[in-house]
This record gives sequence, structure tokens and C-alpha cells, in this order.
Amino acid sequence: MLRLTDVSKIYEGKSQVKALTGVSFAIESGEMVAVMGPSGSGKSTLLNLMGGLDVPTAGSVEVAGRDLAKEDEESRSLFRRTHVSYIFQAYHLMPTLTAAQNVALPLHIAGVPRKEVDERVDRALQEVGLGARDRHLPDELSGGERQRVAIARALVTGAALLLADEPTGNLDTVRGAEILALLRSIHERGSATIVMVTHDPSAASACDRRLEIRDGRLVGDNRN
Ligand SMILES: Nc1ncnc2c1ncn2[C@@H]1O[C@H](COP(=O)(O)OP(=O)(O)OP(=O)(O)O)[C@@H](O)[C@H]1O
Ligand SMILES: [Mg+2]
Repeated sequence: MLRLTDVSKIYEGKSQVKALTGVSFAIESGEMVAVMGPSGSGKSTLLNLMGGLDVPTAGSVEVAGRDLAKEDEESRSLFRRTHVSYIFQAYHLMPTLTAAQNVALPLHIAGVPRKEVDERVDRALQEVGLGARDRHLPDELSGGERQRVAIARALVTGAALLLADEPTGNLDTVRGAEILALLRSIHERGSATIVMVTHDPSAASACDRRLEIRDGRLVGDNRN
């Protein structure tokens, strides 16, 4: 599904930052993997490379048989739309759209017919346990509910790769555990590959495998 080979990422800017150095690993289709490491160790950078949001300075990032490192922004953006879904710590919902409209957004962008959009949005909201909140705006929802909307939006496209950057980072322990259980059940029901950045050891133990990043290097790869 996903293979990184000798990946390095250097950010050129006011000061040069070596965010990743010589990172190699493979993730099989259907795995649920946690990425852990201290703040600034390169976790988000790694996730952005896997999702084709950015390209490495050196090395290759193969996803679904393509080397994203060799592709231009336009073809990576097309790739993201069809193959990858993102879940962020801060939800990133559109504040003026209802829960249902937020979930529908990626389908409208993909040109899915109206009737099919409605059906798929309903199903995705049911799946995350939010059927009754479909007409609420994001600020009429709790943090945990907002994250459920974001997860429904990630599921609705049927993308094979789900990338989550600290999905429980803004939630209390109980709400966080509920979101993890939801991700876990999505993982068990479907065939999605899930890669989740987390600082939370209990979130990591909900995964099948744990990658440890330190100073931009892969220092651990363990199965739970
Ligand atoms: N766009 C950028 N330009 C320059 N440097 C960057 C950029 N993005 C990240 N960095 C630097 O790269 C390093 C890795 O950043 P990254 O965001 O991947 O860390 P992280 O492990 O996700 O940290 P956190 O747990 O705090 O989210 C950091 O030193 C950061 O300052
Ligand atoms: Mg980060």
C-alpha cells in the first residue's frame, strides 16, 4: 500500500531544518499504524509526505503503486482527492456549513450526483453516530461531535488511506477514547489503511503497530 524509501525532508527557509533523515518503512493495506515521537520530531511532515501534500527532498514515497515524490502538484492533488482522507486535530470544518454539508463537500468537489451525495452523507453520519445532528453548524456541536463530522467527511469518499494528525489532541480522555474506538471500528469493518499521529500511548495501543520518530529518524517499529 505504502512504501517510503530513504526519505529525507529539508525545509529551506530562514534557517534550514532537517525534518526527516533516511526514513524507510512499508505499510500493508489494511494496517492501523500509530506514529509517535516528541514535538518537532517530524511526525506531521511524515504524514504530509504520505498524503502527497508535500514532496521529500530525497527518497521515494510510493502509495498505491505511484511514486508521489516524482509527481507535480496537480497530479498529487488529483491523487489526494481520490485516494487519501485527512483527519486533523482542529477538525477543519467549514463554520458556515451544517454537519451534512461539510460531509458532502468532498463529494461535490468530485462531481458526485446530488441524490447519491445525500445517500452517502446520511450513511457516513450514521456510521459515526451523528445522524440526528446533520443540520447543526460546527459551533453547535461539541468537540467530540465535530471530530465525528470530520471523520464522516473522511469516510464518505471511500478513500483507501486515512491519515489522522492527533485526532484526539483537542479532546478530553473520555471523548478521545470514543473517537479512538470509532476509528478502530472503522478499521475493523472496512479495508481502510489508517496512519495516526498521536502523543497518547493509549491511542497508540489501539493500533496494530507503532512507529517511533526521533529527530527525524525512525527509531522504533513495533507490533502491539
Ligand atoms: N513549513 C515548514 N518550514 C520550515 N520548517 C518546518 C516546516 N514545517 C515543519 N518544520 C520544522 O520541521 C520539524 C518537524 O516538524 P513537524 O511539524 O513534522 O513536527 P511534529 O513531530 O509533527 O511536531 P508536533 O508534535 O509538535 O506536531 C520542526 O523542527 C519544525 O519546526
Ligand atoms: Mg505535528
